[in-house]
This record gives sequence, C-alpha cells and structure tokens, in this order.
Amino acid sequence: MPNIIQPKNIDSAALLLQAGGVVAIPTETVYGLAADISNEQAVRQIFALKQRPIDHPLIIHICDLNQLEQFAIKIPEYAFLLARSFWPGPLTLVLYKSQLVGDWVTGGQDTVGIRMPNHPLTLSLINRVGSPLAAPSANQFGKISPTHISHVAAEFGERVPVLDGGHCMVGIESTIVDATEEMFCTILRPGMISEQALKAVLGNHIEIKQPNNKSKQVSGTLKTHYAPQKPTYLFAGREELLGIKSRTAKSVYGLVLTEDCKQLCQQSSLMSTTSEDYAQKLYNALRTADNSDCDIIAIERPPRVQEWQGIMDRLERSSAATMYSAVSHVESDESVI
Ligand code: TXA
Ligand code: MG
Repeated sequence: MPNIIQPKNIDSAALLLQAGGVVAIPTETVYGLAADISNEQAVRQIFALKQRPIDHPLIIHICDLNQLEQFAIKIPEYAFLLARSFWPGPLTLVLYKSQLVGDWVTGGQDTVGIRMPNHPLTLSLINRVGSPLAAPSANQFGKISPTHISHVAAEFGERVPVLDGGHCMVGIESTIVDATEEMFCTILRPGMISEQALKAVLGNHIEIKQPNNKSKQVSGTLKTHYAPQKPTYLFAGREELLGIKSRTAKSVYGLVLTEDCKQLCQQSSLMSTTSEDYAQKLYNALRTADNSDCDIIAIERPPRVQEWQGIMDRLERSSAATMYSAVSHVESDESVI
C-alpha cells in the first residue's frame, strides 16, 4: 500500500521534504512529484523516479508573489500583470532564473518555469517547507498525468508518499508562457488558460506568439506524450468511428460526446460537452480506457475552438504514437488515422 498522507498530517509531508525526500503533492491541474528546489540530491531523485531525461527542466512552485522576484530576474512588466491576474492558478511563466535556482532544476538552462498552484494544501505545504518545490507531473515520463491519489499510487506504488488533496479541479497541466522577451510572449504549452484569456489581460501592447523551432524545449510538447498503452485514435462523428470499426475487428473503448457514438463502442465514457468538465475528467477516463478489456481507444474530437485548445493538444499527443505506427506499418490504411 502506498503511504497516503492525510491533510491533517501536512507537517509530516513538510518534514519529509525538508529532509530531502520526494512527496507527491496535489495541485489544481495534476499531482506533482515534489522536492525542495535547494536540495540537489532530492531533485535528482525526481528525475530517477520518473525516468525523465536530466536535461528536461522542472517547474518550481511558489506560495507567495514576493518569491517571484527572488527566483526570477529581468521580469518584464507584463509578466507581473499575468502573475497578478492568474495566480494562484494554472499558468506557468518561463523567466530568466536567479542564482537561487540550481542548474539541477532547469536542466542547465538559464530560464526557469514558475507557478503558484491554486490548491490550499500545497500552498500551505510550500510555506511550511520554507522553499519552493520543484515538481513535474507525478507520472512516468511520457505517460498520462495523475489527477487523483489512486493514479499516483498506480505509477509509483510504495516508492512515493502522496499528500491527499482529492481530485484535481482543472485536470490538465498548466498553460506555459515564455515571458523572457520584453515586447512579446510565446505560448509553449496550451492549457485551460486560453490565448483569449491571456489577451484579455495583455491587451494589444504585447503580442502573443505560437511556438516555433527556436522556442524553448518543453517535453510536454514532444509529439508523443500523455500516451495510453493501447492504440488510440481520434475521430470526428459517427461515420469516422464506423470507419475505424470496419477496418479493425478489435473492441473499442470510446471517449464519446454523443449517445450515437456511445452505442457503437463496447465500452465507453460519455464525456462532457463543456471544456472545463471535460478537462477535469479526461485523464481519469483515459486511464479507465487503458485499464479496460478493450483493444483500442477511440476519442471523439471536441470542437475546434479556443477554449478547447489545451484539451485538443493533449488528445493529439495521446494518439500520436498510434498515428506514427499506422503511417509506418499500414501505409494503405491512412484513413484510419
Ligand atoms: O500543471 C502543471 O504544470 C504540472 C503541475 C504539477 O504543476 N506540472 C507539469 O510539469 O506539467 P511537467 O514537468 O510534467 O511539465 C512541465 C513542462 C515540461 O514540458 C518542461 O519542459 C517545461 O514545462 N519547462 C519547465 N521549465 C522550463 C523552462 N525553463 N523553459 C522551457 N520549458 C520549461
Ligand atoms: Mg508531465
């Protein structure tokens, strides 16, 4: 059995972290695998547990706006504006790091990802530890992020104690914005804070760009990420689902938006048509599908509008591995993908 730390025992989680341990912590987005940023050995354990390449930088989690200027330098005015508008909340700012942030956190980069998570337990925990916590999502590298203690336990078992903060309310990882430039910013990873929401705060003075090849490295933007074990397909509507079914004799677990499509699947989760609800349930539904008896997962595409951008991004990466193997092995069968 994993060691579940109840909220009333938050002090024992703080003591573990102060002693150089790794503890899984709740945030509003997903659970994180946390260590004190000032302890190099502790942070190295995160990489080992996750089997994450050592040059993939971690996000640091703070509990107080004053910490922003301690751990980042050369902060543009608009970055303060974003922090004041969206923190605590699902926004990560990439900024030049101060000397207080070791290379072991940033994978040798001169920038650091910073956010203030919107979860009362974790804000209180960071305050008790007295130092920011470095925390990537608490899953094996490239796999589905955890939104409940049971997911963390499935990833790490007894190896990592978990502070129980219930179900994550947002459900997908934070929006990451590179704010190192004075006059523009770049969305490195979309999330539930949409481009529109950023624009509403920034107005017309600061341009918001999409990433290009020169943009900073984000592992969550590798083409295959957030991936189930089973082949995973995206489809738009009943006809495409029928197309997938006609090409494979395999049983289908559907993440569907309509009763019509639900009828065509052996097993299914009927997903919400509002983006907030959908995001909150998505990773749990993907895990349920992956653990089911079905052979493949089929996901009905949500609408292509701004507020679904973060969700679409995760769905496309979840199904990317299937897309590549379909392209390389079944060239005549590209319509399935
Ligand atoms: O919602 C979240 O952001 C969650 C919770 C736990 O806070 N964390 C999370 O961490 O998703 P992780 O490590 O799974 O994803 C963080 C992403 C990585 O893709 C990493 O490459 C990128 O942030 N990142 C971190 N520091 C960066 C930096 N200095 N420059 C560019 N990208 C950075
Ligand atoms: Mg992750």
